[in-house]
Amino acid sequence: MAEAEAVERESGVAQQPEDLQAVIDAQEKDLQKLRRRLARARQTNQILEDTVEDQIRSVYIAKQEVDRANSHMESVLRCVSAAIIITDTDGSITSVRGSTGRLSKRSPDTLIGCHVDDLLLGASEASDELFGVGESQLVMADGTKIPVLLTTSQLLNEANDTVGTVHVASDLRRQKKLEMRLAEVRKLESIGQLAAGVAHEMNTPIQYVGDSAHFLDEVVEELLSLQGVYAELVAAVRNEPAIAELIGRIDAAETEADVDFLREEAPGSVARIHEGVNRVTEIVRAMKQFSNQSEEFLSTDINALIESTLTVANNEFKYVADVERHLAPLPTVLCSAGGIGQVILNLVVNAAHAIADRNEQTSIRGQITISTRVDEADRMVCIDIADTGGGIPDDIATRVFDPFFTTKEVGKGTGQGLAISHNIVVERHRGSLTFTSEPDVGTTFHIVLPIGGPS
Ligand SMILES: Nc1ncnc2c1ncn2[C@@H]1O[C@H](COP(=O)(O)OP(=O)(O)OP(=O)(O)O)[C@@H](O)[C@H]1O
Ligand SMILES: [Mg+2]
Repeated sequence: MAEAEAVERESGVAQQPEDLQAVIDAQEKDLQKLRRRLARARQTNQILEDTVEDQIRSVYIAKQEVDRANSHMESVLRCVSAAIIITDTDGSITSVRGSTGRLSKRSPDTLIGCHVDDLLLGASEASDELFGVGESQLVMADGTKIPVLLTTSQLLNEANDTVGTVHVASDLRRQKKLEMRLAEVRKLESIGQLAAGVAHEMNTPIQYVGDSAHFLDEVVEELLSLQGVYAELVAAVRNEPAIAELIGRIDAAETEADVDFLREEAPGSVARIHEGVNRVTEIVRAMKQFSNQSEEFLSTDINALIESTLTVANNEFKYVADVERHLAPLPTVLCSAGGIGQVILNLVVNAAHAIADRNEQTSIRGQITISTRVDEADRMVCIDIADTGGGIPDDIATRVFDPFFTTKEVGKGTGQGLAISHNIVVERHRGSLTFTSEPDVGTTFHIVLPIGGPS
């Protein structure tokens, strides 16, 4: 037994290093393999980590872009001047965008859950169609209704099912106001045409009246002198008994007719007929001239144009102001008499209105002063129209030439006079139209026209 152990120990001692070495080598190999695998795994892991990081970065960037796009869209929607109201299929408001809050003067939060018809009259009927456009009214917080143009479109999901309605309501107040003013302008235009027509029609009868007044003038004079001779005759034969009865009748008839009064009043009365007829003739002539004035550029006597315009505008200022003229001799100006006449009329009417406003409920009369002069050096003619009205306040000075800008009540002004005048003087005649104004002193409008036309 001891012998066998010894042999074994001997042989063990003899084999152990090789075996161990093999084992160690094998383990070493495994270890290297494991290390390589580990390295590969680490590499893969790194790649995976990098990929995940890249993905996270992309997702983050994409989210940022989505956020940016969303906030851009929100800003765009906030800028939309229309009210945008989105409802579910029952008409209950789910969200609002655009100017809904500003237009309705309600906080957008308070609208969520309300029925759309409470905000937009008849909107739910309109939303039955896939797409519809029509007029409606938006109800403001205080119950006031404003006119709106309502566009409704059905909101569809990806499966093309209707999930609600988008209502877009645009404020129509400005358009409605413009429409109203345009209607007034048209009305004024047709009144102008009508007046020109009436003036034309009055021309012939007024000529008869004028001719008859001339005839009466002569007749009255002759009859009065004849009556003088008769009176002398009556005085001469007054004491003749044979015609006493006739003399008595003549005396009674003279008393009845109040001959002394007739002799006194008849000439004055005929003179007043003349005066009236002349005035009407002048107005008719001025109106005809004014409405027939050519739009063409022709050599025009500006001072005469001012006179005929003042005749037409007389009724506008005669109760509130006197007109003073300082008209210098002028060369003829190549211009559209129709256009410039219109400008002078607008400025004179504005002056009269300003004076009337300032002196309202007083008996004070204002003054409109029209002056003309020639600027030979610059080949220009200048027309100044000054009034003693209340002046143009600084805060509206830049707006008075804007179309439809007016401080006058409906029916008195349409806010077109100065815009049209500016267009005529500046655009068509290449002149200038400016003003100077002082509060409580008055306003002067300056028209400058090139003598030779706009060329
Ligand atoms: N001479 C003036 N004095 C004071 N304010 C004036 C004078 N002229 C014009 N304005 C102001 O400018 C506004 C615009 O004038 P504009 O002539 O364009 O329109 P309007 O007179 O109001 O109306 P329209 O001429 O169309 O009848 C007037 O409403 C008024 O406020
Ligand atoms: Mg005006």
